[in-house]
Amino acid sequence: PRRVRVHHLAEAKARGEKITMLTAYDAVTARIFDDAGIDMLLVGDSIGNTMHGHTTTLPVTVDDLIPPARAVARAARRAFTVVDLPFGSYEASAEQALATAVRFLKETGVNAVKLEGGRRIAAQIRALTDAGIPVVGHLGFTPQSENALGGPRVQGRGDDAAERLSEDALAVAEAGAVAVVLEMVPVEVAARITEILRIPTIGIGAGAACDGQVLVWTDMAGMTDWSPRFAKRYAEIGAALGQAAADYAADVRGGTFPDDAHSFPR
Ligand code: KIV
Ligand code: NA
Repeated sequence: PRRVRVHHLAEAKARGEKITMLTAYDAVTARIFDDAGIDMLLVGDSIGNTMHGHTTTLPVTVDDLIPPARAVARAARRAFTVVDLPFGSYEASAEQALATAVRFLKETGVNAVKLEGGRRIAAQIRALTDAGIPVVGHLGFTPQSENALGGPRVQGRGDDAAERLSEDALAVAEAGAVAVVLEMVPVEVAARITEILRIPTIGIGAGAACDGQVLVWTDMAGMTDWSPRFAKRYAEIGAALGQAAADYAADVRGGTFPDDAHSFPR
């Protein structure tokens, strides 16, 4: 399959073809999603919540993300791969952001990085872009700022907030971002931002007008008892996996596994 490259993102938007994105944190799932035709794989700092047992993304470090980013980059044959710059690894300056992003590209082979924020990190987006590193923006509810935002809440509600969000989106695009994630944004506001930007918007809880959609794979696949309102569960893999483990345990305890078919004769 032809590899998805940075220019395909804007081309997809221009042609009105939706862009699909899922998170992935290891080679096993990255290969499955790549084979399924998912266009972009995000090694998200949501790994903190989904895989590392934290309740927020804030404790996630660059060192935490290097091995999963490497695994996903290796496994992806077609998808465009993106890694999150974690909290504390880019906010201080363009120099800090560049050092972090360079480390990811050198050590993992991912294609791009994602940063949270608008005007306040425009200098970082510009510096990475100038260094030849594609940047994906992230606006609306930005989980790394959840302490300041008062938890996971819809952002950009009301005329003033919608205007500020649009200004941030324009700043991110102007600074050179190749796409922007819009998280928990009212449908009309995301539609308007999608209209005014030439780069694609990728929504999560931001309605169907966005140029693409992203979901956290464990939400999409039903791996947990709870998933957010915006995350449709396309399967109940958690329940299926639990049943498989219970069946295996029952067979072992009952002496029916391993049988002859799964053993070596002398
Ligand atoms: O870390 C993540 O999974 C993300 C997506 C929700 C966009 O940033
Ligand atoms: Na993230």
